[in-house]
Amino acid sequence: MEQNIQLARHGLFDARVPRYTSYPTSPHFSADVGHETFVNWISAIPEGRQISLYVHVPFCRRLCWFCACRTQGTTSDAPVRAYLEVLKAEIELLRATLPKGVTLERLHWGGGTPTLLAPDMMTELAEAIYSVAPLAPDGEFSVEIDPNEIDDARLDALAKAGMNRASIGVQDFDPEIQKTIGREQSYELTESAITAIRARGIASLNADILYGLPHQTPEKITQSVQKLLSLSPDRVALYGYAHVPWMARRQNMIPEEALPSPQERLALFEVARKLFEWDGYTAVGIDHFALPSDGLSIAQKAGRLRRNFQGYTEDTSDVLIGLGASSISRFPQGYTQNAAATSQHIAAIRGGNFSTKKGHSFSANDKLRGRLIEVLMCDFKIDTGQIAKEFGLPKAEILLLIEPVASQFSDVVSLSNGVLKIPPAFRPLTRVISRAFDAYALSKTGHSSAV
Ligand SMILES: C[S@@+](CC[C@H](N)C(=O)[O-])C[C@H]1O[C@@H](n2cnc3c(N)ncnc32)[C@H](O)[C@@H]1O
Ligand code: SF4
Repeated sequence: MEQNIQLARHGLFDARVPRYTSYPTSPHFSADVGHETFVNWISAIPEGRQISLYVHVPFCRRLCWFCACRTQGTTSDAPVRAYLEVLKAEIELLRATLPKGVTLERLHWGGGTPTLLAPDMMTELAEAIYSVAPLAPDGEFSVEIDPNEIDDARLDALAKAGMNRASIGVQDFDPEIQKTIGREQSYELTESAITAIRARGIASLNADILYGLPHQTPEKITQSVQKLLSLSPDRVALYGYAHVPWMARRQNMIPEEALPSPQERLALFEVARKLFEWDGYTAVGIDHFALPSDGLSIAQKAGRLRRNFQGYTEDTSDVLIGLGASSISRFPQGYTQNAAATSQHIAAIRGGNFSTKKGHSFSANDKLRGRLIEVLMCDFKIDTGQIAKEFGLPKAEILLLIEPVASQFSDVVSLSNGVLKIPPAFRPLTRVISRAFDAYALSKTGHSSAV
């Protein structure tokens, strides 16, 4: 097939390309940016500004073999309670640094499994956060929910704390696939978690599913997507399974011979994409689907879609502070990242300091290239005039960056009237084309496959 030949020629089937949830990507962060810079950047937030806050809970009751997230297994509550105390101490450090009147446009609890916190812990955590920065009146509070690790009491606590968006992990409904990836979760369990979430008036629901899993076939993904559609999520993230056993050792449990080939992965994605679109969902960016009424679809239509560490978002704040082990923060000045090891993070906070280990200060060139990558990942096009206006630069300067990429990819993109566009047939190449704007990575970065 002609399209596949072009995709292959540009490296779709063999490339390891970052997902560009940041620019530069985190492997390029350095120890030059540490605690002092983090404190300075927080202090520079204007008083009364709306910001976003991410809280990482690096614990799970079970460790799913496919999972590449930073998390550790625990059967007891003791380390979770100890970690909650550390989070509260970190929030106190934030109180001492954060300018007055800051409110939260977005609050997100992720992990790991934030829903393994007991109800009283959830309430304590939310109260501690709101005492430093309350949720803005139209603010969004979202939580990653594992349907295996939730019950009425915990949902009540979350609803009381103001959760208004739930994000549930599904991955796949097929029992054979579930066994092979070490994540068993019946359809009935997922359905009852969703019913319980909606019963509490939490109307906004995201679901994560994966393509490229072992033993996945077009028939199986069709069944899984149809089952998911029957539950009417507002938003779906359709992530490509990243097989990175050198980083996530538990993935060694996954039989590599059962993994689909890169060409098969693309076919699986296409099957799922068509099913979502046939059912009325709008494709958003490279891997999301949302009902036309959902904020993400609306933002995409209005050209307001953004990309951050949580993927696609309509969040407009220019500050995202990450609390907890391994969390990344973003400021107008650059990125910072907390100690990845939970023990190191805990030690730093107990010592009275944030655990910032590394980061990156933006140069003017980073900001420009980062924005080019972001608009390409969000809109599949770059409008030279719009970027020139945004950055107060001559159009010719932006064109100097765009023209070489347009000629490198001349058979799969168009450039006319200063607008570079990726047509729908070649959107699977978006990350590969974005990489051509990445001044760092033309050295090797990223660890996940392009499809
Ligand atoms: C922090 S995890 C899940 C939250 C919650 N603990 C759960 O299991 O439902 C967030 C999402 O990351 C995605 N994810 C984890 N490992 C992945 C991998 N190896 N490749 C692609 N996506 C992955 C999954 O879709 C998962 O739902
Ligand atoms: S998928 Fe969720 S529950 Fe499973 S190991 Fe990853 S974070 Fe934990």
